[in-house]
Amino acid sequence: MQRPVEDLLTDYNIMDPDFVKDPFTKFDHIRESQCPIAHTERWGGSWMPTRYEDVVAMAQEFEIFTSRGILVMPPAPGWDEGPYASVAAPPITSDPPEHHWHRRLILPIFSPQSVAKYEQGTKDLCNSLIDEFIDKGVADAAGDYAQHIPVRVIATMLGVPLEMEEEFTSWVRGVLEQGMTDPELRAASSRKIISFFAEQLADRRKNPREGDFISELTQAEVEGQKVPDHYILGVCNLMLVAGVDTTWSAIGSTLWHFAQHPEHRQQLRDNPHLWPTALEELLRVYAPVTMARIVDRDTEFQGCPMKAGDRVLMTFPAANRDPRQFENPDVVKLDREHNRHVAFGSGIHRCAGSNLARLELRVALQTWLERIPEYSLVDPTAVTWAGGQVRGPRRCLVKF
Ligand code: HEM
Repeated sequence: MQRPVEDLLTDYNIMDPDFVKDPFTKFDHIRESQCPIAHTERWGGSWMPTRYEDVVAMAQEFEIFTSRGILVMPPAPGWDEGPYASVAAPPITSDPPEHHWHRRLILPIFSPQSVAKYEQGTKDLCNSLIDEFIDKGVADAAGDYAQHIPVRVIATMLGVPLEMEEEFTSWVRGVLEQGMTDPELRAASSRKIISFFAEQLADRRKNPREGDFISELTQAEVEGQKVPDHYILGVCNLMLVAGVDTTWSAIGSTLWHFAQHPEHRQQLRDNPHLWPTALEELLRVYAPVTMARIVDRDTEFQGCPMKAGDRVLMTFPAANRDPRQFENPDVVKLDREHNRHVAFGSGIHRCAGSNLARLELRVALQTWLERIPEYSLVDPTAVTWAGGQVRGPRRCLVKF
């Protein structure tokens, strides 16, 4: 049982069920206070900037706000021992100068042209998921639909068995969801992911294949050198962890939104040209991801005395609701024109998979709305949410 929050400015709790359910009113409270960068001692201690300007400025200052630790909860003791101790999750866990080549190596596979080849497969997958429940008149939009899409797309990209979908999902949830408050589970889940990829990598080395990302990395070179194994394992680790919960959460939140807004479904039916701005607006409003930083050296930021080793939450979802940056930020305007949202982050770590994420989100929503144009929540109070650093619905029953 967690102690109740006394004061959001000095004692926020990102794992409090009330915070998970509705972080936005808490962000507003902090943002409009005298101290828009809150602090807490909970979960190992952290800072939480809530203004767009501050979040973006911190993302630019990568020498002070480093990416050595991107989860705010401290790791389990001994997590950095054992055969995979040097495996991290580059490029998201790297800082310059390594970050530059880490990122350069993966960017080509995420270009718009490269990800376009997954469009038809994603559409077929979405249709086959809908086939399974459309005659029942009810479905869990999060559990029966959204959850299955990104994990299968990533497994296809990596060339790993799709039948292992359930294991992959449970490992990722073990890192980003249940593992948030359970460092032992988090470490064990990470080890499972990395051992799995170590086997896959050994197999690729023995039996080279064409066309999947792990095989491509085994062939790749940086400045005439083969890419080290611990980097390949780290990237695969990140692809699974960054590519699954995030996009699943975005798809789930937007389906939850449309379930309650028939006028928005109608607006898109009448004006399909609005899809591009609508997707950006939904990403802004329901931005699922909050990564963390570690302060490199004692510093003062906007009057806050930060110590070397302190953790900082990059609260992109709060920045996206800052009225200084977005007019009527809590209103969903599918045709919003000025929308420099930071759902995909900002600066050098800006999401490398954003083209893939956008493709999956668009195809998942369009396919759903084509087949199930009219639907609503079975019981709005029964929707459950995961939160912490990745927020989205985990059970969302709808009827149609
Ligand atoms: C809607 C879905 C997604 C959202 C909202 C999202 C959000 C983010 C955010 C906010 C960051 C920046 C983290 C930071 O500043 O520390 C990030 C980084 C990253 N994301 Fe995503 N992401 C999504 C989907 C994906 C997918 C599908 C992939 C690919 C498998 C992916 C791969 C990455 C990578 C590789 C990075 C690290 C980039 C770097 O450090 O240079 N993401 N993402």
